[in-house]
Amino acid sequence: LANGLGITPPMGWNSWNHFSCNIDEKMIRETADALVSSGLVKLGYHYVNIDDCWAELTRDHKGNLVAKKSTFPSGIRALADYVHSKGLKLGIYSDAGYFTCSNTMPGSLGHEEQDAKTFASWGIDYLKYDNCNNGEIKPTTRYPVMTRALMKSGRSIFLSLCEWGDMHPALWGAKVGNSWRTTQDISDTWESMISRADINEVYADFARPGGWNDPDMLEVGNGGMTKDEYIIHFSLWAISKAPLLIGCDVRNLTRETVEIISNKEIPLVFKPKRSGWKVWSGPLSVYKTVVLLLNRGPRPYSITAQWDDIDIPPNTVVKVRDLWKHYTLKTRFVGNLTATVASHSCKLYVLRPIS
Ligand code: GLA
Repeated sequence: LANGLGITPPMGWNSWNHFSCNIDEKMIRETADALVSSGLVKLGYHYVNIDDCWAELTRDHKGNLVAKKSTFPSGIRALADYVHSKGLKLGIYSDAGYFTCSNTMPGSLGHEEQDAKTFASWGIDYLKYDNCNNGEIKPTTRYPVMTRALMKSGRSIFLSLCEWGDMHPALWGAKVGNSWRTTQDISDTWESMISRADINEVYADFARPGGWNDPDMLEVGNGGMTKDEYIIHFSLWAISKAPLLIGCDVRNLTRETVEIISNKEIPLVFKPKRSGWKVWSGPLSVYKTVVLLLNRGPRPYSITAQWDDIDIPPNTVVKVRDLWKHYTLKTRFVGNLTATVASHSCKLYVLRPIS
């Protein structure tokens, strides 16, 4: 979407994966504080996104959305001011239907212009726009109404289309939003995470500045997967240029979670692709190539990336950097790269030609 936003994939935090409907303004403010004190904001995690359940079930007498009095008594404008004062941006959630997915607040269908104006007047920077209770009206009819309403609102607001991939939004989302969900909801398990990555990969060619494939938010730090599985999760999301929206409680980060979500070495890959089930790769600047060797199986496995599969010219000699161990291997490689990969873990390398 041509609104100058999302030139790189958005990074930040969202309340849903960890807190579900148990959200309030104190927790959101503490989250903003934690993004700053942990240093995550300096790495680019600057969106603080409130998901479902922030509003009263009924609109006010003028038809405006109203923040839930019991949990957001100061209102969203005050929260936006607080979040902005910390150098962060505030995201909110609505639905292209009559009610949101929790059924606890109204959706924006039929109220698009009014709600877009409200969000702009509160200083909202990001809108996640969901798909429940939609009266069976086509998403390609419903979503662009909000796009146009935001365009009229006078404020640049990142628009995240949450259509769950059913109608292949990668095919039509670029003019409508800044990102589009390619999958159903993620949950904090290996099977859920790895299947989201596989489904998302089909649409790799559609990701571009201003519009990104969204295989759903991160589960890193929520406890349902092993450290190696979370490393795979973060690696695949990062190289696929997915939004990196942390979904755990950032007020109580473990050292392990910080180590994973702050790996600055992982590059954005121009055209990531999967060859078979074990090798992901893609070109980088100055002839470098990123390669991810993924072991989905129950035992250690020796995985080989052939130059031919990862689009490196034959006979090219490369130096290899391990992006999770943070060191450059002494061995040089030509023709292929083989490594033994432990069960449910990965190797993430950057290959740099030296001849
Ligand atoms: C849908 C979305 C989720 C979350 C919930 C909130 O399931 O896909 O990401 O926003 O609704 O109810």
